[in-house]
Amino acid sequence: MFYPEEIVEEVRGKNDIVEVVSGYVKLQKKGGSFWGLCPFHNEKSPSFSVSADRQMYHCFGCGAGGNVFTFLMNYENFSFPEAVRALADRAGVRLPQAEYSEEARRKAGKKARLLEVNKEAAKFFYYQLRSPHGEIGMRYLRGRELSEETIHRFGLGYAGKNGAALVEYLRGRGFEDALIKEAGLAGFSERRGLSSQFWNRVMFPIQDINHRVIGFGGRVMGDGEPKYLNSPETPVFDKRRNLYGLNFARTARSGNMILCEGYMDVIAMHQAGFTQAVASLGTAFTLEQAALLHRYTENVLLAYDSDGAGVKATLRSIGILRAAGLTGKVIDMRPHKDPDEFMKNLGREEFVRRMEKAENSFFFEIRVLESGFDQKDPEGRTRFHREIARKLCEFTEDVERENYLQAVADRYHIGYDNLRKLVVAYASQTGLARPVERPRTGRAVRSSPEESGKKAQRLLITWIADEPGIYARIQSYISPEDFTEALYRKVAERLFADLERGNYSPAGIVSMFEDEEEQRQAAELFHTKLPRLDSLQEREKAFHDILYAVRKNSYEYYINQTKLEEKDGLEQIKREIDGKRALEELAKTHISLDVG
Ligand code: GTP
Ligand code: MN
Repeated sequence: MFYPEEIVEEVRGKNDIVEVVSGYVKLQKKGGSFWGLCPFHNEKSPSFSVSADRQMYHCFGCGAGGNVFTFLMNYENFSFPEAVRALADRAGVRLPQAEYSEEARRKAGKKARLLEVNKEAAKFFYYQLRSPHGEIGMRYLRGRELSEETIHRFGLGYAGKNGAALVEYLRGRGFEDALIKEAGLAGFSERRGLSSQFWNRVMFPIQDINHRVIGFGGRVMGDGEPKYLNSPETPVFDKRRNLYGLNFARTARSGNMILCEGYMDVIAMHQAGFTQAVASLGTAFTLEQAALLHRYTENVLLAYDSDGAGVKATLRSIGILRAAGLTGKVIDMRPHKDPDEFMKNLGREEFVRRMEKAENSFFFEIRVLESGFDQKDPEGRTRFHREIARKLCEFTEDVERENYLQAVADRYHIGYDNLRKLVVAYASQTGLARPVERPRTGRAVRSSPEESGKKAQRLLITWIADEPGIYARIQSYISPEDFTEALYRKVAERLFADLERGNYSPAGIVSMFEDEEEQRQAAELFHTKLPRLDSLQEREKAFHDILYAVRKNSYEYYINQTKLEEKDGLEQIKREIDGKRALEELAKTHISLDVG
């Protein structure tokens, strides 16, 4: 841990989650909680709730959740220590410095300095563009039909022909040469000394979701190589995990995101009112970027170039979107090359029509595939059908695969049964997807008791946290070891210890974990939907079922464990019998929930 636990708890205690979240999300009180539109996914009616009692938030739509630290980590993209620091500042808590490791302090300091030097450089380019030297840049941008407002909004700039000017300016602001170099802003040469990396280019600052400048793209005005010069990766510039335009797009709330290829495309799209447009950073679209988009939407519209390279890139990105669980559709830009040209020639209304007609990514793939085979040649057609079957096998869900099978058979006039046979043959050859008609075996069946065991564990924790008085009555029937998930066990250990001390806080438990995903899972444990039952009798039965399910699951889990370890000694047999007896006894025990 970075900071001592007491300090972390103090910071948390002094930052009321309702107040903090209200700074970002409009909340309304309803019943015991506050509700609003979830900032982590797109929605039209509020399913994001913040509880003042628990000091936690939870979204019933997308499953996001956690305490006040998790919120900032998610929203501001902060690390855990950064979130602690921000909230300590807010509440006026002094943090001890000594807890930083030397290494950690150096890293945090370096990042902050890199962001500062980038920001200064962006300012420099911005003013250059508006100076007499920058007229040529301004003329170029106007020639590309960008309005003054757009140029300002994206912070566009100009890097002049005097390579020393930027370095002079930055030195004057107190930045060391080494930092200027590390930021990728300048390079050293014998002849010129330290001089700007960007020479006579229009400059596109690249911002992270918090509008911090993390790097630059510089474009030649006219023809010339390379067309774009991008900053190298630095500790603050991770090209795989950021998207151009996302700082604006994330609040567009349009129900989708539009993925383009280039910076100019994004800018042209935003200027036309499509503020949900983003682009990758001069490199191919990554799974990390897809996951980033998934925070805001389920639907991604691809607006890549319409040429051969664009089609190839589209196919690649479709696969990535699918892997990230996103639905991709392809916008047909023809006869124009890219969104930028499209906007200039056909305008926004026509683009809206194209968005509405965007092609399902699977059909797009098949259509591209089709053009690669000679459809008049029986052999070509057969190979085409086999390829379709192969693609169909990529759907792991039976229903989905079946729906596509039917649709594609209709559309391409292929006999349904024949195509299905190809799918079955391909699937059994490769062990990919299982044919639809076979009974679900293997994983599906085995994973379902596992899932229900986990669910019972979550229910039990939520229930105990909601009615802490119960704990004393079940203490002798349950222990943290009954929680077979490692993370759940950690939470249970802490929760039970806290309850024994008579002082517990679920939100405090969440900050035992520094990782955002672990915090989310820990928080989820306190937000399981409990059965809503009126009579005491029904409630007692439901609670008993849950407790029993947790114990039974743990019993079976340990039996399986020991079988795997092949410990078949007398000791094991005795344990097994004891465990079974204890279970039987629990089955007969009445546990009262009556508080009276
Ligand atoms: P314009 O040609 O000015 O309309 O820009 P564009 O954004 O449409 O560029 P294009 O479609 O040619 O390329 C798409 C993206 O690829 C650009 O925005 C850059 O991020 C990147 N890119 C293009 N050319 C280069 C290059 O020469 N080097 C590098 N590193 N990236 C490039
Ligand atoms: Mn272009």
